[in-house]
Amino acid sequence: MNPCAGYFFALRLVGSRMVSVELRTVTKNWGGTAAVDGISFSVEGGRLVALLGPSGCGKSTTLRLIAGLEDTSGGTIAIGGHDVTHAPPSKRGIAMVFQNYALFPHLSVAENILFGLKVRKVSRADRDTRLARAASILGLSGLLERKPSQLSGGQQQRVALGRAIVAEAPVCLMDEPLSNLDAQLRVEMRREIRELQQRLGMTMVYVTHDQVEAMTMADQVVLMRNGRIEQDAPPDVLYETPETIFAARFVGTPPMNVLPLTAVLAKGGTVSPPPGLDPAGLALGIRPEHVGLGESGVAADVVAVEYLGADTLIEARIDGHFFIVKRAGKMRLTAGETIYITLSQSALHWFDLASERRVVRD
Ligand SMILES: Nc1ncnc2c1ncn2[C@@H]1O[C@H](COP(=O)(O)OP(=O)(O)O)[C@@H](O)[C@H]1O
Ligand SMILES: [Mg+2]
Repeated sequence: MNPCAGYFFALRLVGSRMVSVELRTVTKNWGGTAAVDGISFSVEGGRLVALLGPSGCGKSTTLRLIAGLEDTSGGTIAIGGHDVTHAPPSKRGIAMVFQNYALFPHLSVAENILFGLKVRKVSRADRDTRLARAASILGLSGLLERKPSQLSGGQQQRVALGRAIVAEAPVCLMDEPLSNLDAQLRVEMRREIRELQQRLGMTMVYVTHDQVEAMTMADQVVLMRNGRIEQDAPPDVLYETPETIFAARFVGTPPMNVLPLTAVLAKGGTVSPPPGLDPAGLALGIRPEHVGLGESGVAADVVAVEYLGADTLIEARIDGHFFIVKRAGKMRLTAGETIYITLSQSALHWFDLASERRVVRD
């Protein structure tokens, strides 16, 4: 099936109302196991939601369920307020862009972009208008006669986006569309996709395993783990108030330091844990960029020092527990030294060691 064939019912993107997407307790079982396990989230019209999580957590399956390329095992899916749980892909008003954007090598850029519209018998005049518009938005106007082999990776990716744009579908689903591109191009394409999505008022569900991509592009991040939603929040909330140790460590580079409170106390820490809780059952979290260094504090053994130009990463151990410090500039330290770490109370996150859930909500 052509992924970008422009599945749309009477809805047109330009000037149309923005269309919401809503999943309620959606499940997908493969054999006996649930790849997607009763998840619920909603995407407001005109917003970009990133489905983020490690490989195998159910992101692609969720996207394919929204597209109608897989049947649900349970739950309901609504697009634009209509229940589409049992509707075929062509009745859902979506366009989809996959990781391997699969252009036809023997067709020109223009023909590749218009392929889905020809199949759908959109009139010649309408096709020409949409092509000119998409080509101008994507900076492809001078390349329409070329074949895909004569394009760079980024240009090929834009052709794939062009297919989704000419479909004028109000909802666009993207499954890791940038993972074939080099790092610099990825940064550019992130911006282009985001800009386009906002300018056209598209509702977008964007799958990625790259937390930087999710954090920089999305209005809302749905973080998944083992077929379930770990946290559903805007990027700043996810960073500032992670609800679990998994969320705390999945977002941010290097990841948040999380270690038992007892280890910090054993090495001279003077933090105030949340009152009324057993200190032995608590984990303390602090982001590497929020850690201070001083003449006294929590004693940590330096294991390695990595100079990155703008920052230095210091890998250390506190009572045997892995701990990373990120400091601006160059730090003159060597492995084997002892450093003293200061922990600002306001930068601390508290988790229950047993449940791995946050215990203090701001
Ligand atoms: N067609 C399929 N048949 C059986 N199992 C599948 C199929 N597609 C996906 N899975 C399983 O479902 C789980 C989630 O897969 P997927 O949604 O592709 O994860 P992600 O996109 O997050 O990497 C994985 O364990 C995967 O092996
Ligand atoms: Mg996937």
